Amino acid sequence: MSLPARVRIVEVGARDGLQNEPEPVPVSVRIELIRMLADAGLTTIEAAAFVSPKWIPQMAGASEVLAGLGKRSSVSYPVLVPNLKGLEAALAAGAEEIAVFGAASETFSQKNINCSIAESLERFAPVVEIANRQGVRVRGYVSCVAGCPYEGEVAADAPAAIAKSLYEMGCAEISLGDTTGVGTERKIREVIEAVTRHVPVERVAGHYHDTYGRALDNVVVSLEMGVAVFDSSVAGLGGCPYAPGAAGNLATEVLVDKLDRLGIETGIDPEALGRAGRLICEHLGRNYPFRERRP
Ligand code: HMG
Ligand code: MG
Repeated sequence: MSLPARVRIVEVGARDGLQNEPEPVPVSVRIELIRMLADAGLTTIEAAAFVSPKWIPQMAGASEVLAGLGKRSSVSYPVLVPNLKGLEAALAAGAEEIAVFGAASETFSQKNINCSIAESLERFAPVVEIANRQGVRVRGYVSCVAGCPYEGEVAADAPAAIAKSLYEMGCAEISLGDTTGVGTERKIREVIEAVTRHVPVERVAGHYHDTYGRALDNVVVSLEMGVAVFDSSVAGLGGCPYAPGAAGNLATEVLVDKLDRLGIETGIDPEALGRAGRLICEHLGRNYPFRERRP
């Protein structure tokens, strides 16, 4: 199969990245980061999570983040929503796109959202239905598609079953999360094969954490299978608070560079992206991990 001509990148640094920082980052910095990411040409920027601040204090202030961003044509700011309470708050804050998040592993589901997989699907159904009725697009995440930090290897039919349920429920896109970055090329291929028996490949996204430096290889395998949407995180920020040791997503800078070298369009300006990456690294008091200019 030929590779897609264009890829849409879903920037998750301001959510997946910052949710994992030891100290919450002020709302004003989160807004500035997201604005700079939009200036760099990113058109889908996950902006916040309407989750319990007792569970994830780093995502408190989600409504203020959306209010500060306002609307910008051709940029969408999806937010995570775990239940009806989160949906209500997200809609009141003017969210136009949301994401529900389930898992392919029972233990991870319990640790992350305090319910079983079956209960999570019951919770998501009315969230997805109400959102769709109001014209709000819904993405469905499946975590632990390749392996679980608590249960070890996950068989490909597990993420496929959750992906099928989320898609049939009304999710417009299914993002496959290799939460701890254990996926090998062979495993990711198996997972995409299993998922695309139920979900058209145009509706599938890859969300690969880079714990073992495998994320870029997994992107390439996914591209070969027709996947054309990838999640990544500026400066490689992040991890998951309920996946100990998980590293950040594949860095957006690295993904953009690879796609560019493959002749795949992203619409992103690497220099402007670098400015956003340096801003957040400076705020977090760490070195920006990339050079000024890529060769
Ligand atoms: P719970 O304790 O079972 O919920 O948590 P509850 O319904 O019993 O409510 C408990 C308290 O939380 C109550 O407050 C509720 O009002 C409040 P209290 O009466 O004690 O003061 N509450 C909320 N507050 C704000 N927003 C809400 C909300 N819901 C209840 N939406 C719950 C269940 C799902 C809320 C909790 O487990 C939670 O917030 N979990 C979020 C976990 C999370 O955000 N994890 C990280 C994101 S997932 C991820 O990173 C993976 C991904 O990147 C893909 C990948 O890499 O695999 C997406
Ligand atoms: Mg993640």
